Amino acid sequence: MKDLRVFAGRSNPALAERVANYVGLPLGRAQLEKFPDGEISLKLFEDVRGRDAFVIQSTCQPGNDHLMELLIYIDCLKRASAQRITAVIPYFGYARQDRKDEGRVPITAKLVANLLTTAGADRILSLDLHAAQIQGFFDIPVDNLSGEPVLTAHLESLDIGPVVLVSPDIGNAKQARIYADRLGGDLAIIDKRRVSGTEAVSYNIIGDVKDKAVLMVDDIIATAGTVLEAARLVLERGAKRIIVTATHGVLCGRAIERLASAPIDHVAVTDTIPLSEEARQRIPNLTVLTISQLLGEAIRRIHRDESVSSLFMK
Ligand code: R5P
Repeated sequence: MKDLRVFAGRSNPALAERVANYVGLPLGRAQLEKFPDGEISLKLFEDVRGRDAFVIQSTCQPGNDHLMELLIYIDCLKRASAQRITAVIPYFGYARQDRKDEGRVPITAKLVANLLTTAGADRILSLDLHAAQIQGFFDIPVDNLSGEPVLTAHLESLDIGPVVLVSPDIGNAKQARIYADRLGGDLAIIDKRRVSGTEAVSYNIIGDVKDKAVLMVDDIIATAGTVLEAARLVLERGAKRIIVTATHGVLCGRAIERLASAPIDHVAVTDTIPLSEEARQRIPNLTVLTISQLLGEAIRRIHRDESVSSLFMK
C-alpha cells in the first residue's frame, strides 16, 4: 500500500486535526463549499492516485448534509484513483433505525451502509455503533472501536468508590457489563419503553441501587430523555449519587436544558461529535474526552495491515 492520506469533512474539524496530529500528517488539502443553491462542491488539492485514503466525518447534525458530504468525498477519492478508501465515521448517524420493528418503516442504517458502499468506500472505521450487528449491513470490512477504554480510564481517575453499573435500557446491557467487568461493581438494568422520539419511560429496574453510587452507561445521549428517566428511577430506589457516561453526545432537542437541571453529579462523553459552547457552559460537571488517539492508532494500524482487534475491538 502506498502513502497514507487523511482528509476530513466539516462535521468535526477539531477531532480531525487531533487525529491527523496523532498520525503525524497534515490533513489533506481540499476545498468544500456550497453552490448558491445549497449543493455541496468539493475539490481536492492533493494527488491521491494509488494512495491509501482515509476520510473522517461524523454523520452528526445536520446529519443529512454531513452524510452527503461524506458520500461526495468518497466519490471524489474514487474518481481520483485512490487505491483504497476508508470512511472514518466516529459517530455513525441513522444507526438507531436499524430494524423493522413495526410495519411500513425503513431500515435506514442499512440504506446508509448501501450508500457508503455504492459511493466507493472499501472499509469503514467507526466507534460504538449503536448496534454491533450494523457491521453486517456492510459487505466490506468494518472496524467498530469502543470508547470504553477512554471512558473507564476517566471514571477510574474520579475515584468514585464502589459503584453499581446501570444500563438505562436492555439494549445497552452488554456494554454496561463490559464496564462492570472493567471497573468492578454489580450490574442493574432498566426496563425502558420509548413513548416518542423525545420521551422515554423507565418502568422498573432489575438489580439493587439502594445507598449506592450509580454509574449509568449509554452509547448515545440525544434528547437526554432516557438518562433523565433512569436518574428519576434510581433516585426513587435509593441511589446516592449518579454519574452518566456515553460515547456520543448528540445533545439535541431539550438535552442541554434537561442535563443542566438533572440530579446528575457528573457527565462524561467523548468528542465524536463537537459540543456547542452552550452545552459546555450550561451542563455542570461535563467532561469531554478525546478518542483521537484511538482513531489515529486504528488508522495507523489499518494502513500498515496490522491487527486492530488486538487493541480495541469489542
Ligand atoms: C437507545 O437505544 C440508545 O441507546 C439511547 O438510550 C438513546 O438513543 C438516547 O436517546 P435520548 O437521549 O433521546 O433518550
